[in-house]
Amino acid sequence: MALEFLYAFFLCITLLAGSAASAPPHSQCLDNPPDLTARHNEAGKVVDDLAGFKAYITGAVHSDRAIVLASDIFGFEAPLLRQVADKVGEAGYYVVVPDFFSGQPYTGDPSVNITQWIEDHSPVKAAQDAKPIFATLKKERKHILGVGGYCWGGKFAVEISKTNEVKAIVISHPSSLNVDDMREVQCPIEILGAQNDTTTPQKFIYQYVRALSKRSDKIPYFGKIFPGVAHGFACRYNTTDPFAVKTAEQALALMLDWFEKYLK
Ligand SMILES: *[C@@H]1O[C@H](CO)[C@@H](O)[C@H](O)[C@H]1NC(C)=O
Ligand SMILES: *[C@@H]1O[C@H](CO)[C@@H](O)[C@H](O)[C@H]1NC(C)=O
Ligand SMILES: *[C@@H]1O[C@H](CO)[C@@H](O)[C@H](O)[C@H]1NC(C)=O
Repeated sequence: MALEFLYAFFLCITLLAGSAASAPPHSQCLDNPPDLTARHNEAGKVVDDLAGFKAYITGAVHSDRAIVLASDIFGFEAPLLRQVADKVGEAGYYVVVPDFFSGQPYTGDPSVNITQWIEDHSPVKAAQDAKPIFATLKKERKHILGVGGYCWGGKFAVEISKTNEVKAIVISHPSSLNVDDMREVQCPIEILGAQNDTTTPQKFIYQYVRALSKRSDKIPYFGKIFPGVAHGFACRYNTTDPFAVKTAEQALALMLDWFEKYLK
C-alpha cells in the first residue's frame, strides 16, 4: 500500500518532468513551503498527547461535532492551516490538527530526500495509526466526526472514509488518489481541485467524480475545480494576492457547507 502511494506521488512528479524533458523532477506538492516558525494570533493550543499524537486543538470544546484536519506534507505547524482550523472552530466545531509526522514534517529543505520522506510517512499507514484519535474523540462525546484533508491529508481522509469512522470528508487539492479509492469511500465526499494543479490535474478530479457517480449505492459527492489557482490553493496560498485569498475563502466556505449538511 505504501508503494502504491509512492507510485502515485511520483506519477505527479514524472508527469511534470516528462513535459519539461531534462528539467529536474518537480512537484507542486513542494511549492510555497510555509514558514513553520511563524505564529499569528492562534485561537487554539497545542496538546502533547491526543491519543499519542501532538495536536493543535481549537474551536468549540463542548461541541459533539469534531473535525480532524489532515495537513499537507508541511505538517500541523503551518500557520495558514492553523488559521483555517480556527475558522472551522468558529463555525461551531471542535477541531484537531494532529501532527502525523512526529515532529518531522517536510520543511522544504532541499537536502531532505523526498522519496525517502514519503516512504517514511505513508498516509495509508497514518490512517491506520490514527484510529485511536477517532476513538478518543468519540469517548469525549464527540460522536459526529468529519475529516478535512489537504494534499497528503486528502489521501489520509479518503483512507479514513473507507472505515465508517467518519460521517463526511472534504479533500482539497488532494494527492496520490486513484479512481479505485472512489469506489471504497463510505461517506459523503467533497473534492476541491484547482485548474492549474499538476499534482492532481483537473482530468483526475473529473475521473474521481465520474467513479463516484457510477456507484450503485449513491453516496453523496461533490466536485469543484477552482479557476486560476494551482495546487495548495486552500492552505498554502499567497496572502497578499486578493484572488488567492478569495479562492481560499470560497474553498473553506464550501467545506463548511458540506460538514454542515452531513455532520448530523
Ligand atoms: C532517496 O531515497 C530513495 C528511497 O530510499 C532512494 O532510492 C534514492 O536513492 C534516494 N535518493 C538520493 C538522491 O539519495
Ligand atoms: C493557470 O494557468 C493559466 C493557463 O495556463 C495561466 O495563464 C495562469 O497564469 C495560471 N495561474 C496560476 C495561478 O498558476
Ligand atoms: C503574491 O501576490 C502578490 C500580489 O499579487 C505578488 O506581488 C507576489 O509576487 C506574490 N508572491 C508570490 C510568492 O507569488
